[in-house]
Parts: sequence; structure tokens; C-alpha cells
Amino acid sequence: MSISGVSTGRASQVLETEPAPDESSRKWLIQIEKVSKVYRADEADTCALVDIDLSIRRGEYVALTGPSGCGKSTLLSIMGLLDTPTSGRYSLDGRDVSKLTYTELADIRNQQIGFIFQGFNLVEQMTIYENIALPLSYRRGMNTGELRDRVYASLARVGMEHQVKHYPAQLSGGQQQRVAVARALAGSPSLLLADEPTGNLDSQNADAVMELIDGVHKDGTTICIVTHDLRFAACAERQVHLFDGRIKIPERLPIQMGANDASNQKSRNTNHSGD
Ligand SMILES: Nc1ncnc2c1ncn2[C@@H]1O[C@H](COP(=O)(O)OP(=O)(O)OP(=O)(O)O)[C@@H](O)[C@H]1O
Ligand SMILES: [Mg+2]
Repeated sequence: MSISGVSTGRASQVLETEPAPDESSRKWLIQIEKVSKVYRADEADTCALVDIDLSIRRGEYVALTGPSGCGKSTLLSIMGLLDTPTSGRYSLDGRDVSKLTYTELADIRNQQIGFIFQGFNLVEQMTIYENIALPLSYRRGMNTGELRDRVYASLARVGMEHQVKHYPAQLSGGQQQRVAVARALAGSPSLLLADEPTGNLDSQNADAVMELIDGVHKDGTTICIVTHDLRFAACAERQVHLFDGRIKIPERLPIQMGANDASNQKSRNTNHSGD
């Protein structure tokens, strides 16, 4: 069983030996319950996340918004198995991730999750080709021809196929961001986590990347995107607002709004921490 429900690769084989997921996990890909994250330091602790409850359905498209420092990247890192909560429970595909081994976590990250980092995280010493090929090279059963095809196809999707031999430092911030998008999509992930994927792009390239993400969502990928851009947040099926490490419940709707308007408005701007 993979997180998309389609059996692929080694992580799937590992998970197939475990008990079948319960009914709720067939519906919910991501189940976050009472998750908190505290960064400890000598001077002071920082509570980046406080009692977060958030569930995301398979195939759903969610936008995470909120002011700088409210915990968006921290939450996305936990979802992407790059960080662990200080307390609370995170279940991915019905399985408590705290029970998975280091190898299982690495396999799931490599084979099922595409992550677009806020700071790109390209390897400076590697060419663009090598940056995208590296995670694919850990895939079991992928031959050199397929790997090459995937690298070129993903770069072509973001209009960067002519810069394969460049190093990240030779590219503009926007070009590096497009490479980071290509790297996340090259592995055909079933869960795409994108942290400000358009933050460094001009409006034309930003629109193109958002269309790309929309296309990936239509193909069945579950998406969680962090964005400051309200126009792009509105592309998602559901918006979740964070404030000071907590999920912010929407304020009451204006009294003059009719009952039908209110319920429509509420369903458009859902901000719930899961059902
Ligand atoms: N590794 C870390 N060590 C200590 N504190 C951290 C660390 N990472 C994040 N924080 C703190 O946790 C809080 C949330 O940070 P986070 O990066 O999740 O915010 P954000 O919502 O993504 O902000 P931005 O919109 O600026 O990217 C901030 O107060 C930040 O300073
Ligand atoms: Mg951030």
C-alpha cells in the first residue's frame, strides 16, 4: 500500500507487512492530532506549533496561510517527515509515523513525497541535472534511461531544460525556484508539499507553476501549499490559517449576510482543523 493507494517501490513493500489501515485512514491521508513543536534554546524556548489538529483527505488541495513566523514551514516539515513533533500524533496513510523506522521514513520521503523548500535546498556543488537526478537515483528499479527522461521532462515542465549543466549559483532566484519545483515533481509524488513555491517568481512564472501544481492535483496528488498570495491560496479547495502556532478559526460572519450566503461562504473558506 502506498500513500496514494497504488503499490509502488520499497516503502510500499515495507508497509504491506504491517496491519491494514483502519477505515478512517482510507479517507484521511494526513491526520495530525494535538501536535505541538517547541524549539529549545538556552535563552528561551520557541513554541512554533501549539495543539494543531488537522486532517487532509486523499487527493485534497489545501493552502496554509498566515503571517511570518506563525509555524507554516514547521508544520509542513512535520507533514513531510523532515521534522518530528515535540508532542501529539501524526499519522500518514493511517500509520503513526513515530512508529516507523529511519529507513521506512526515508523510503516514504523518497518515493511518495515531493517537497518544495522555501529556501530551494539545491546542492550547490551539483549541476541542475544532478540535483534532480540525485533523489531519483535512490529509487529501486529505475534505470539510467528512465532517470534521464524524468529529469529532462520535469525540467521542461518549468522551462529549465536548457540549463541542465548549470550550477545553482549560476541561476537567478526564480530559476532556482523552478528547478526546486522540477525536483519535487520528477518523482511523481502522491503527496506534494510546497513551501512558498512562487515566492521568488515573477507573475508569469508564478502562474505557470501554480497551473503545474493544479495539473498535478487533477492527476490525483494530494497537495498542501504554503503561500502568502491570497490569489493562489484561493486556488486550493480549503484554506487553513495559522496564527502564533495555532490554527485560527474564522471570525463570525457578518450578521447582515443571509443564511444561504453564510453557509456558502463558510464552505468556500473552510478553515477547520479537520472534521
Ligand atoms: N530550527 C529552529 N530553531 C529555533 N526556532 C525555530 C527553528 N525553526 C523555526 N523556528 C521558530 O519557529 C517559529 C515558526 O517558524 P516557521 O519557519 O515555521 O514560520 P513560517 O510561518 O514558515 O514563517 P515564514 O512565513 O517567515 O516562512 C518562528 O518563531 C521561528 O523563529
Ligand atoms: Mg516559512
